[in-house]
Amino acid sequence: MNIKTIGIIGAGTMGSGIAHACAIAGVEAVMQDVSESALEKGFKTVGSSIERLVRKGTIDDAGKTAALARVCTTTRVEDLASVDLIIEAATENEALKIKILRAVDAIAQPGTIIATNTSSISITRLAASISRPEQFVGMHFFNPVPVMALVEVIRGLRTSDATVDAVGELAKRLGKTPIGVKNSAGFVVNRILCPMLNEAVFALGEGLASAEEIDAGMKLGCNHPIGPLALCDMVGLDVLLAVMDVLYDAFKDPKYRPAPLLREMVDAGLLGRKSGQGFYSYAG
Ligand code: 3HC
Repeated sequence: MNIKTIGIIGAGTMGSGIAHACAIAGVEAVMQDVSESALEKGFKTVGSSIERLVRKGTIDDAGKTAALARVCTTTRVEDLASVDLIIEAATENEALKIKILRAVDAIAQPGTIIATNTSSISITRLAASISRPEQFVGMHFFNPVPVMALVEVIRGLRTSDATVDAVGELAKRLGKTPIGVKNSAGFVVNRILCPMLNEAVFALGEGLASAEEIDAGMKLGCNHPIGPLALCDMVGLDVLLAVMDVLYDAFKDPKYRPAPLLREMVDAGLLGRKSGQGFYSYAG
């Protein structure tokens, strides 16, 4: 199946990043969210990340205009009825995702593939909530989507080969490298990455070193591009906590217990970059 048009549910960090990737690759994208203000913010994010490419000389102003013209926005799920693929990129909450997936399943054409950008939730379980589990797949992008080259393509128990192939092919057209992953909590990357980020929060909470020193340790000692606490702020502390909760619930292994400081910060509304404050301050 040749995917030409894409619906994206959610205009947040990941949804707008996926819209950017589509726009640059010449793929039409319809971004849906519940409020006009969320859509405006998401569309502005797409505009500013495309502007980075203009500043670098990768594309010119005409290219930017053409790319932005490929992205449209709507508050109505029904407006996604004619697309070839719908990618759900809403908040990492299973009940919310199921509600959205059922709504999408009800309006999408019979041939439409439905994908989820979940960071960790079981693809098999999400698939069971809709009428087309064979046409349901995990398509997991990484933050910031315009820069990160990976897409995990996660096969649920009932996902068809045709669905996996179509989504892998699309990932390549979006300039990404797909890897095939078996359904399991956290898939591959977050299963490995998130416990490391969580451990950095433990280290900070136990007063082993300051946030700056912990980050310098991992950058200078392990050649990571940014430190783990700065990466927590970029990913979103709420997202990291949700992934750790999923890992802990799935494996019942104490090694996945979320750091108390992580939960405390999420409770306080300190979510990282998106809230202006996490382990570092982003005010102003
Ligand atoms: N949108 C578009 N482009 C961006 C961007 C954004 N939000 N942020 C950075 N860039 C681009 C810049 O334009 C620049 O491009 P160039 O090299 O072609 O000129 C390039 O990225 C480097 O940017 P900067 O020089 O400004 O900053 P850094 O050198 O600090 O790099 C980074 C930024 C690439 C994001 C780097 O810090 C990095 O690789 N961080 C790690 C990211 C990571 O691990 N992501 C995975 C998170 S886990 C996840 O997403 C899974 C989820 O389920 C939780």
